[in-house]
Amino acid sequence: MGILDGRVAFITGVARGQGRNHAVRMAREGADIIGVDICAEVTSDNTYAAPTPDDLATTAQLVEDQGRKALLEVADVRDSAALTEVVRRGIEQFGRLDVVVANAAICNWNRLWEMSDDQWSTLIDVNLTGVFKTLKAAIPAMIEAGNGGSIIVVSSLAGVKSMPVQSHYSAAKHGLVGLTKSAAIELGQYKIRVNSIHPYGVNTPMGTDPSALKVFSTFPQYLPSFASILTDYPLADPDDISEAVLYLASDAARTVTGTQLTIDMGASKV
Ligand SMILES: NC(=O)c1ccc[n+]([C@@H]2O[C@H](COP(=O)([O-])OP(=O)(O)OC[C@H]3O[C@@H](n4cnc5c(N)ncnc54)[C@H](O)[C@@H]3O)[C@@H](O)[C@H]2O)c1
Repeated sequence: MGILDGRVAFITGVARGQGRNHAVRMAREGADIIGVDICAEVTSDNTYAAPTPDDLATTAQLVEDQGRKALLEVADVRDSAALTEVVRRGIEQFGRLDVVVANAAICNWNRLWEMSDDQWSTLIDVNLTGVFKTLKAAIPAMIEAGNGGSIIVVSSLAGVKSMPVQSHYSAAKHGLVGLTKSAAIELGQYKIRVNSIHPYGVNTPMGTDPSALKVFSTFPQYLPSFASILTDYPLADPDDISEAVLYLASDAARTVTGTQLTIDMGASKV
């Protein structure tokens, strides 16, 4: 018996990194997986490579290797119609929707007065409005099914502590905290819990973006903002984050809603 036996989860940004890991770990616990990923470069401001449709196919195979079903599609979290259609088809195939992990995001760097308007607005569109659109696509079906559920919003350390050279990312990830808390209040009567998680560095293509090292050497005055407590773990593994996602998705967290769970090696405390 897995802790998510018979449940269905919808995950955005599922082609690789944390999203893929959450899909595989949830499938191992008994969940079928609906998922989307853009599988293409979102903006030339990003300085790490984008995933491909082959990466998405690999995630589907890894889910199926756990004995569960996967419906994974190329879609952009900025496209409400596409998200709604994927959710509709997923529920048609798998019969229900219990868990949402709003995980897709991008990350890039600049001091705020050196950012183009486009750098600001593209990141806000994906990282903040994209989560709004993800939740909006999923919530009506969850309410209608009447099974309750769990929504996990992937924020960041930058959602509880503002980071330099990332004002747009910090603004979006702080915005997700407000979105999470409002949604938790609105969805309580439907037994749908809504929580945010706040990782610091994670070993994924985003978390190993080579531009971070350039930023540290260009702006040594900002280095204190990047300190943590558990310095033996400069980067978490995707599994460290999946453990938190599994907990919040499961009935073990049945009394937990509206909360901000940091998984940040203590970085928010120094
Ligand atoms: N890696 C870190 O160090 C770190 C730290 C804190 C928080 N986070 C957050 O964790 C989450 C997962 O990031 P990751 O580390 O796995 O990065 P990643 O780049 O490996 O994965 C993110 C995925 O989201 C997808 N995506 C981006 N824009 C999209 C869009 N418009 N529509 C659909 N899919 C889109 C990407 O294609 C990619 O597959 C993100 O919300 C990120 O902000 C990451």
